[in-house]
Amino acid sequence: MRLFEKTALITGAAGGIGRAVALCFAGEGATVIASDINGTGCAETLVLLEQSGGSGISVPVDVTKEVEIRELYRHIRERYGRLDIVVNIAGGDCEPSAEVEEIDYLNMSANLDLNLKSCIISCREAARLMKPQGFGKIVNMSSLVYRGSPNQFSYSAAKGGIYAFTRSLALSLGRYGITANALAPALVEVPAFVAALGAERWEMLRKECSQRYPLGRVATPEDVARCALFLASDDAAFITGQILEISGGARL
Ligand SMILES: NC(=O)c1ccc[n+]([C@@H]2O[C@H](COP(=O)([O-])OP(=O)(O)OC[C@H]3O[C@@H](n4cnc5c(N)ncnc54)[C@H](O)[C@@H]3O)[C@@H](O)[C@H]2O)c1
Repeated sequence: MRLFEKTALITGAAGGIGRAVALCFAGEGATVIASDINGTGCAETLVLLEQSGGSGISVPVDVTKEVEIRELYRHIRERYGRLDIVVNIAGGDCEPSAEVEEIDYLNMSANLDLNLKSCIISCREAARLMKPQGFGKIVNMSSLVYRGSPNQFSYSAAKGGIYAFTRSLALSLGRYGITANALAPALVEVPAFVAALGAERWEMLRKECSQRYPLGRVATPEDVARCALFLASDDAAFITGQILEISGGARL
């Protein structure tokens, strides 16, 4: 049990990766606060983790609303009095692939709000809880597109911003016993992605990526969850400010 007696907040816990992380952490003994804008979905995640012997609560939150993030952390403080781990996973690409001249201001803002600003505010609230306790593990969801991605401008900017922000956190919070790291997956097979693309287009994308990635397949949510577990556990006690590429060797 690598997270025995730890309290862990997972945002995006109704999604493909978030649910896998929530189930993985609960299986390692953590009390999981499963949060998502999709209240039904994160309640389902809670049922699944309870069915496999885990425990926690589900809290619907829109991470683009500062007031809701503050309320979430206030609830955690009142209920548990501490927070050991936060994994900021809620996110997604709000801007359809476009030429740079066609960047839409509203879509760009939505990408920055959902992916970057939400992460910054969640980490601010986490630091307020973690600093006084002298312990904390922050894991932020970037993406392999942090390196740059053709026609994915604001999403890659947001995910690159998460990496820079995470390094700044690591530099500032290390002395308080808090580590901050980021995950950068290549393509992960999640139900939402498959549904959005449709089976046929998804299959073409999956095949194309599988041929390109040296390990010959795309990632599963569980691949990502195991890396989140590593960074949230004492196995990564001396690792901070890093980005872990979960890419099957893509972009080497
Ligand atoms: N799937 C991939 O290939 C891939 C690759 C790299 C990075 N990522 C990142 O991983 C994270 C999880 O994505 P996923 O693949 O599991 O997709 P997903 O769509 O299954 O999960 C995203 C979750 O975020 C939630 N969410 C969306 N807006 C929200 C809001 N305003 N407030 C709170 N929750 C909100 C959704 O309800 C959903 O449950 C995202 O940050 C995504 O950018 C995904």
